Amino acid sequence: MSSRLATDLCGIRLKTPVLTASGTFAYGVEFAKLVDLNQLGGIVVKGLSREPMDGNPPPRVWEAEAGMINSIGLQNIGVRAFVSEKLPELRSYDVPIIANVFGYAPEDYLEVIRVLNDAEGIAAYELNVSCPNTKHGGIFFSSDPCLLAELMRDVRRATSRPLIVKLSPNVAKIEPIAQAAEDSGADAISLVNTFISLAIDAKTRTPRIGAGFGGLSGPAIKPIALRLVYEAAQAVRIPVVGLGGIASGVDAAEFLIAGATAVEVGTATFWDPQAPLRIARELESFCTEENVDSRQLTGTLKLKQSKSSAPVAIEQGEEQTTKS
Ligand SMILES: Cc1cc2nc3c(=O)[nH]c(=O)nc-3n(C[C@H](O)[C@H](O)[C@H](O)COP(=O)(O)O)c2cc1C
Repeated sequence: MSSRLATDLCGIRLKTPVLTASGTFAYGVEFAKLVDLNQLGGIVVKGLSREPMDGNPPPRVWEAEAGMINSIGLQNIGVRAFVSEKLPELRSYDVPIIANVFGYAPEDYLEVIRVLNDAEGIAAYELNVSCPNTKHGGIFFSSDPCLLAELMRDVRRATSRPLIVKLSPNVAKIEPIAQAAEDSGADAISLVNTFISLAIDAKTRTPRIGAGFGGLSGPAIKPIALRLVYEAAQAVRIPVVGLGGIASGVDAAEFLIAGATAVEVGTATFWDPQAPLRIARELESFCTEENVDSRQLTGTLKLKQSKSSAPVAIEQGEEQTTKS
């Protein structure tokens, strides 16, 4: 891949700004026969918890219009098995490894990070904060700036590795959450995680997903993800990693233009395991056509000027996001 795509994320050198998204690329090594892992911008591994988790009852996946709904339930082998069984092979590749971490109480996150801190070969942590905090009545860390800041302060003290906080799109306003992450020590934010959704079998009048609700991902969510990435990038100074429905190089370019420094590819990998590499090649072609390095795309969205300096008000049935 050419230097047109080389970039830097929180001090980590990336060959390309296209990474894999957590939960859609297992622990990386499982894809080694299908994908040249050395060519990826980075690998974000499946979410890791302090103990192994079996996940939710089936069915766990439903193909929706232009996307998919999943409720895997964060099934994973647990952080210790990751370190002993997956990481030794994974770190033999020349690619930054980002460990996605989750928990239901701050102690869970801290325990996972303590175990990972002792392991070599991890470039950064991505904190999945789209989990209910069991100590605070199940309020999601990602929907309350105070809870998020509390968690972040503990985690920040526990590691000197870069921290990327992965935000949920299931909030009324993304800016206060993004700012809370930045103010409490995040080195970057990534967004979006999946959108809470419901698919119904009309004949049986039951949910299509065993657990009831699931998370919507894939091309269906891209326009909403782009809007959230734009809003978050306007609200913080730290880098933003954008994701949500990216399936082509032009999609990736759109996320950079909205304000992202790098992107992650998730659901597209289900129908094309090589999608992250193909998307990077397509992004490179786009950059060649436009005669820019991909870094020069970040935050270059041109907005129509509004008469006032305030965002244009939302009219009934016609939403505008114009900021001057
Ligand atoms: C099957 C599946 C499993 C996922 N597991 C995780 C996970 O363990 N941790 C996490 O932070 N995000 C997880 N995600 C969310 C994705 O990383 C990504 O944020 C989301 O799917 C939107 O990107 P996409 O439209 O490119 O898939 C998962 C998504 C899918 C489809």
